[in-house]
Amino acid sequence: MTTLFINIKELVQVRELDVMKVSGKNMSILPIIKNAFLIIKDNIIVDFGSMNKLGIKKSDKVVDLTGKLVLPTWCDSHTHLVFADTREEEFVNRIKGLTYQEIAKRGGGILNSAKKLQIKPEIELFDDAEKRLKELIQNGTGAIEIKSGYGLSLESELKILRVIKKLKENFSIPIKATFLGAHAIPIKYKEKRADYIQLIIDKMIPEIAKEKLADYIDVFCEKGYFTSKETDQILKAGRKYGLIPKIHVNQFNSIGGVKVGVKNNALSVDHLEVLTDEDLSILSKSDTMSVALPSCSFFLGIPYTNARKLIDANVPMAIASDYNPGSSPSGNMNFVVSLACIKMRMTPEEAINAATINAAYALNLSNKIGSISKGKVANFIITKPIKSYSSIPYAFADNYIEKVYVNGKETQTK
Ligand code: NIG
Ligand code: FE
Repeated sequence: MTTLFINIKELVQVRELDVMKVSGKNMSILPIIKNAFLIIKDNIIVDFGSMNKLGIKKSDKVVDLTGKLVLPTWCDSHTHLVFADTREEEFVNRIKGLTYQEIAKRGGGILNSAKKLQIKPEIELFDDAEKRLKELIQNGTGAIEIKSGYGLSLESELKILRVIKKLKENFSIPIKATFLGAHAIPIKYKEKRADYIQLIIDKMIPEIAKEKLADYIDVFCEKGYFTSKETDQILKAGRKYGLIPKIHVNQFNSIGGVKVGVKNNALSVDHLEVLTDEDLSILSKSDTMSVALPSCSFFLGIPYTNARKLIDANVPMAIASDYNPGSSPSGNMNFVVSLACIKMRMTPEEAINAATINAAYALNLSNKIGSISKGKVANFIITKPIKSYSSIPYAFADNYIEKVYVNGKETQTK
């Protein structure tokens, strides 16, 4: 089945197939074709160009997109989509003056989520996650990473990863699974943290690898969570089983996580609200993607990642939602793109690159998605009639999406 889309006002993010990521000044270039056509065959993009070069093309269906834009779907490279319950009580406590760290110290935070998840049946976790994911796709997300990390025991970590596996089987967007057993030290290991780390290394990683439940491995490298030495130990253990590192670093403090991540060839280092000159220099010499999570900064009222500093140092940057019940209870990538422009002073070109091609790199999927390229999967957004791609971050709370195509098929809306 071949579909020809004609009269596209702007075909956004058109690239050659071999572009894997963009850095520095190149992030400010967003290649577009005005008044364009696009041809997809089954689930693949096969051709595109300017309308005046269309000529006569055979197709089974023609769709006129006059006034509308087409852009690749968002890639969300960092989420905690599988969780048991929301945490409104902590939200209210933060409004009243407690900090995220104070709430965690009182047994709230990640440990609160773990307690609830441990008793929730797998099927209910799946049903909730399925609902959330359907909604995210309607909001333009066409590839996603999902972490475990609210289990914190062998059994419960496996439960989350099995839910993610089932999501992979039930959805046609690419989904990557990350094992985050090192998200927090469980209460019962408070006085014997080394034992928990040993449990991760000796039991959890081998079992997860045996069942092929994860693509990546993550650690929350932060004061009060895991040290950089422990992070190194866990990443190395994961590597032995083929798990590639994608880690939480520098959310509140720079404690050596960037260095350890890069040393272990991390695909990405995420958060980076705090950034030292040493971190910056390490990142600028690596192939690791820096991932900012602006909705976490927005929701917790903490500093935003210094995008200007990263981009000026020629470091490639992606942005992701960090969807989770504690620090970012939204997976809406349109809002993430807006925040990147409004709060991080990224231009619309930089923010769209960060949420598409660079985010695809952070998922190790830039050969398949993240741009409009011949040979890539036909996952794209069709907008309502809008002025230009800058209208997307500008009209920050508007829903400008008319349709979302996944694998060449229009997804069922609402
Ligand atoms: O990325 N920082 C660590 N993990 C999550 C938050 C987890 C939670 O509060 O439940 C994050 O922000
Ligand atoms: Fe996170």
